[in-house]
Amino acid sequence: MEEIVYSLKDVKKIFKSSSEITHALDGITFDIKKGEIVVILGPSGSGKSTMLNVLSGIDIPTSGQILYNNVRIDKMNDKELTDYRKENLGFIFQSYNLIPNLTIYENVELGSHLSKDSLNINDILDIVGLLEMKNKFPYQLSGGQMQRVAIARAISKNPKVLFCDEPTGALDEKTGKQTLKLIQDINKKYLTTVIIVTHNPSIAKIGNVCIKMNSGKVVSVNRNETIVDADEIGWA
Ligand SMILES: Nc1ncnc2c1ncn2[C@@H]1O[C@H](COP(=O)(O)OP(=O)(O)OP(=O)(O)O)[C@@H](O)[C@H]1O
Ligand SMILES: [Mg+2]
Repeated sequence: MEEIVYSLKDVKKIFKSSSEITHALDGITFDIKKGEIVVILGPSGSGKSTMLNVLSGIDIPTSGQILYNNVRIDKMNDKELTDYRKENLGFIFQSYNLIPNLTIYENVELGSHLSKDSLNINDILDIVGLLEMKNKFPYQLSGGQMQRVAIARAISKNPKVLFCDEPTGALDEKTGKQTLKLIQDINKKYLTTVIIVTHNPSIAKIGNVCIKMNSGKVVSVNRNETIVDADEIGWA
């Protein structure tokens, strides 16, 4: 049986300032299944990051329901949200956010302290292909290598859900594809649910599902018949 990890019902997020009202999320309803890769695609300003923020409890919706494993996260207080994030979620961003004065090993280790369920650091460094560089510092690495450290750090606590906001936004085609391939490998190996936010339509094919957004609304939800290996996709 397929388990639902996230269920959204008519989720709205409205930002108000003195001069304008923005409907960043304008009535969003969909489910995300456990162990799948979901790609959220849409132009700049369509609400992708806002979506990621409300799913990960960084922000709360204005109205509607968000259930994580049947529990309403939109009703949680700050402490409950912090625990929810700490116990369940990993994050990767366009900027790698590595600590410059810590080695690669120490940067990855930092992520693993967040969980009891953490993975062996050397094993993870091996998976991301950086075991031999573990005593180097971030400035000695290329962009693609730094993103692989960020991925290693995010998965070191063995998160149930991995959120990726424009994970290839700062990378060239070749490194971008390698990064996505690594995310696919992790999804297979650890059965991590992966949610990738991007404006690059080529990335839609690497997941089980592609959700297209525009102006705070879901315009389509497409299930891929076959999942394409990241090294075989085009690059817009
Ligand atoms: N904290 C905020 N306060 C006010 N408005 C916001 C805030 N965050 C987002 N918005 C507005 O909500 C809308 C959606 O923004 P969001 O960042 O979710 O878009 P996005 O799809 O991630 O765009 P991009 O591809 O440029 O990252 C935009 O109009 C944005 O200006
Ligand atoms: Mg964004």
